[in-house]
Amino acid sequence: MLILGIESSCDETGVALVEVDLNTQKLPTLLGHALHTQIAMHQPFGGVVPELASRDHIQRVLPLTQNVLDTTRKTLTDIDVIAYTQGPGLAGALLVGAGVACALAAALDKPSLGVHHLEGHLLSPFLGDSPPSFPFVALLVSGGHTQLMSVQGVGDYTLLGESVDDAAGEAFDKSAKLLGLPYPGGVHLSNLAAEHRGNEKAHALPRPLLHSGDLNFSFAGLKTAVSVLVKKIELHHQLHAEQLPKTILADIAASTQAAIVDVLVKKTMAALQKTKLKRLVVAGGVGANSKLRQQLNAITALLGIEVHYPQLQWCTDNGAMIAMAAAMRLQSGQQQATRNMAFNVKPRWDLMDL
Ligand code: KG4
Ligand code: ZN
Repeated sequence: MLILGIESSCDETGVALVEVDLNTQKLPTLLGHALHTQIAMHQPFGGVVPELASRDHIQRVLPLTQNVLDTTRKTLTDIDVIAYTQGPGLAGALLVGAGVACALAAALDKPSLGVHHLEGHLLSPFLGDSPPSFPFVALLVSGGHTQLMSVQGVGDYTLLGESVDDAAGEAFDKSAKLLGLPYPGGVHLSNLAAEHRGNEKAHALPRPLLHSGDLNFSFAGLKTAVSVLVKKIELHHQLHAEQLPKTILADIAASTQAAIVDVLVKKTMAALQKTKLKRLVVAGGVGANSKLRQQLNAITALLGIEVHYPQLQWCTDNGAMIAMAAAMRLQSGQQQATRNMAFNVKPRWDLMDL
């Protein structure tokens, strides 16, 4: 069976084609994918402009679909199911992917299937060469979500803890903005710290909820602390953040990254201890962070815990993870694709409500 997956929840348009045999448990195979990122378009505004995002998705989704069909030497009529990101995300952006997917499905008289964006992230390590087995603890760290979960199988998720305010990605992005770095700031902040050998002990920044005794996170206070620190340093040097010497900025970046990574690592290890699971999956955009990977690799190696990350190209939003999640849901019998003339999107949608 061939499944086309369409992702359009935020600022990336992604399309992919996956093949799955529903009569076996063999992992689905990715046949091809195409991606367009809107980062350059939103950069002058310092963040995603929802209306621009929707308009751009409209222009990209069909050419990207054609590109995937061309590279895989398939045609629209070969497709058996059309999957799309149904939520969570920006309403207008989601509507583009959902509308195109459901219109294509209706025109081809094929069923469609709505996918939860975070389930796409969660299952993205299955696109790699060393996919995990169930069960595992999942640390899901994206621009909008920070969650720890116990994952027993496809669709069988128990929330262990989550952020009570900002997500880790948001903390990276907001701090990066305070340092005058371009959107989306996570990777720029991380690169600045690495390239200019930032000292992560230069500034003592808070590790919110580190000792709360539960597995929840809070990053809003950290952003405030970074803001106060940057203002103090700007005042001292009588310069705006972006005019400060790179070494000073790198120290702030390294200290901020260390605070975020420290909390993520400690809470993740507490989740592994609590569940007694010996396998960890890290997914979502922040999962691309090299400091986070280094620290998790070091500590899990000591404790004999197996760690799986998605390949870097599948950490941030893409169509492959959506097609893959759809295939795995169909294969596990969690969901069936339906022939539907009506569709809706779910801008707010809790993964635990699946
Ligand atoms: O999963 P994702 O692509 O989008 C959402 O579903 O939210 O995650 C995007 C987030 C952004 O906050 C971005 O700054 C962050 O992931 N990110 C990183 C890195 N690469 C992406 N944060 C820290 N270090 C990175 N290398
Ligand atoms: Zn995402």
